[in-house]
Amino acid sequence: MTFETPSGVQVHALKDVSFTLKKGELLSVLGPSGCGKTTLLNIIAGFLNPTGGSISLAEEEITGPGVERGMVFQQGALFEWLTVSKNVDFGLRMKKVPKDERAALVEKWLDIVGLQGFGDTPTYQLSGGMQQRVALARCLINDPDLILMDEPLGALDALTREKMQSLVLDIWNETGKTIMIITHSVEEALLLGERLFVMAPRPGRLFKEYELPFAKQGIGADLREIKQLKEFGEVREEILTMIWNMEEEIMGKGA
Ligand SMILES: Nc1ncnc2c1ncn2[C@@H]1O[C@H](COP(=O)(O)OP(=O)(O)O)[C@@H](O)[C@H]1O
Ligand SMILES: [Mg+2]
Repeated sequence: MTFETPSGVQVHALKDVSFTLKKGELLSVLGPSGCGKTTLLNIIAGFLNPTGGSISLAEEEITGPGVERGMVFQQGALFEWLTVSKNVDFGLRMKKVPKDERAALVEKWLDIVGLQGFGDTPTYQLSGGMQQRVALARCLINDPDLILMDEPLGALDALTREKMQSLVLDIWNETGKTIMIITHSVEEALLLGERLFVMAPRPGRLFKEYELPFAKQGIGADLREIKQLKEFGEVREEILTMIWNMEEEIMGKGA
């Protein structure tokens, strides 16, 4: 994927990125700012057409957005002036699903994300963590096959974030959805990835891949205990060093 800036400079945002996402897999993607994470997700979502190569979902080439792919953005992508229910059932209203059916589904999903009783609350009155619960419910109610998340928990405080990480694991475990989550946090990538890609910049590429046990171990468990595990600490240090070196290279050594 290359972009051309308004001044005519070519930016090689992604190069030779090739992988297969398995059904039901939980994949996390980590990497320094500017390494092409959002670009990769936007291509999969169908918001961007790659300038080279191709991408397909269940043998069908992706050429644009589709209901089988749901997106959860970082904070700020809700209709803040609408109630929680009206945000959550937005996709169903677009599909003209009957009112009763919509109401039942809204209730079900508000329950799952821990927002029972908040249906009539205007979204702007909710805390950041609750708003991201709304964003999750809004995505999941459409029953997508693939859930794409671009730093969905990045703006939350540490405690709320940890609760939301548990929620993502629960939802993955209970729905069996395929989830691809982008994050800036090494710990989050380790906790929320059965498989983890570390990306490197200039050009954006897949740098290292890990298969990890922590997501499965974290289901229904205290995530703080998982973080205390010796193996967790070892991989965390390895990846932190890796990313540290990338940042050094970007900044220029000794600069
Ligand atoms: N529309 C665009 N036009 C020009 N350059 C872009 C555009 N979108 C992204 N880029 C560039 O592509 C690279 C990857 O960006 P992005 O995918 O947003 O990275 P990340 O999400 O990992 O921070 C960056 O160098 C960014 O400046
Ligand atoms: Mg990004």
